[in-house]
Amino acid sequence: MSLPKDNKDSIPEPVKGLEGIVAADTNLSSVNGEKGILRYCGYNIDDLAFNTTFEETICLLYDNELPNQERLEEMTKKVGEARVLPDEVIRIITELVGKTSPMSTLRTVVSVLGHYEKNVPLKELPPKALRLVGQISTAVAIIHRLRKKLPIIEADPSKGHAEDFLRMLHGKEPTKIQVDALNLYLILLADHGFNASTFSARVTAGTLANLHSAITSAVGTLSGPLHGGANEKAMDMIIEVGTKKNASKYIQNAFDSKQKIMGFGHRVYKVDDARKPHLKKMAKKLWEEKNEMKLFEVAEEIEKQVKDRKPIITNVDFYSAPLLYGLDIPTDLFTPLFAMSRIAGWTAHVLEQYRNNRLIRPRARYVGQIDRTFRPIEQR
Ligand code: SDX
Repeated sequence: MSLPKDNKDSIPEPVKGLEGIVAADTNLSSVNGEKGILRYCGYNIDDLAFNTTFEETICLLYDNELPNQERLEEMTKKVGEARVLPDEVIRIITELVGKTSPMSTLRTVVSVLGHYEKNVPLKELPPKALRLVGQISTAVAIIHRLRKKLPIIEADPSKGHAEDFLRMLHGKEPTKIQVDALNLYLILLADHGFNASTFSARVTAGTLANLHSAITSAVGTLSGPLHGGANEKAMDMIIEVGTKKNASKYIQNAFDSKQKIMGFGHRVYKVDDARKPHLKKMAKKLWEEKNEMKLFEVAEEIEKQVKDRKPIITNVDFYSAPLLYGLDIPTDLFTPLFAMSRIAGWTAHVLEQYRNNRLIRPRARYVGQIDRTFRPIEQR
């Protein structure tokens, strides 16, 4: 569309979706899309993936350094003690379950939790942010328990985050490989540059709105199928395809009808997502432990059929799906699980924004009609 002739604004052409636009500096994570490398505070996730815990990732994002044993024990205890929700919030979840999606309930819970927190000065924000990191996991577990009319399992603050969440969700002690699988997932999805939900948290924080307002923005943004909602849709696809021999026809139909295939493509990665190999490896281990390889093999076949047709990269969501499914997590909890991990990055980014804030306010190029003649209503 050409600009109206007498438009005075010499505003340049907007970049659709802000593709490639650098909005700010960050010390938290770097995504090298050309080489498929993800780093948290300078540490390659390949080194973090199987050698650390989610609590170490939280320390890294909050302290800009991996913890020593003492700092790790302190963080594990803090997050463990935070895995508690006020009774009134549990009552609100009881009211909502079955009426809204788990992700909508989680968005509401984050917003309501803000009412139990005071607005505090910047230096007192990390403990407040950590409370939310702990509470989100408990909220996800309680949403599930209440909708299944199962008793709520109290958190055990002496356990690690991944282990305690699986315990609260399923009501039984998880196996070591299940704990390792969830730990890996929580580490790998904790932060990823200025993805849409993180950016929305920073835009909100940039107005000096409080932490819970910023995280409520992020949860809402993550729920979209082009972002955090893709993992649920990817699992639905794998289940719908059902067998390896169906994959070719399914994918061909998807391409013919110009459908987006969930779990593939990325705005930044030009090669496979840095997180994919680790998620795929762990998902395979989980399914080997269950001795049921069928769905994992269907996923591999789908990936092959996609890549045989179009050079689209496999993103974080495609193998997140069979990993979470392998943990017996219902698919409509996959995006809430994504939020359980990304809350570490979101809160770290909000803190970073507050520490060196400038209101985030881009311009728009007006392309509508201008200088129109006003007529009073009786003449319209
Ligand atoms: C996440 O940003 C982050 O870092 C996000 C994330 C994080 O950790 O926070 O990595 C997590 O959100 C991963 C992405 C999850 N979403 C999906 O899996 C949904 C399916 N993917 C697509 O909708 C898409 O790939 C996006 C939204 C992820 C990226 O879209 P872009 O950058 O706007 O690319 P595009 O839609 O313009 O596609 C470019 C081309 C098009 O072909 P042409 O029309 O030019 O011929 O690639 C094609 C697209 O049709 N394409 C796809 C495709 N993704 C891109 N074709 C089929 N299936 C796909 N999934």
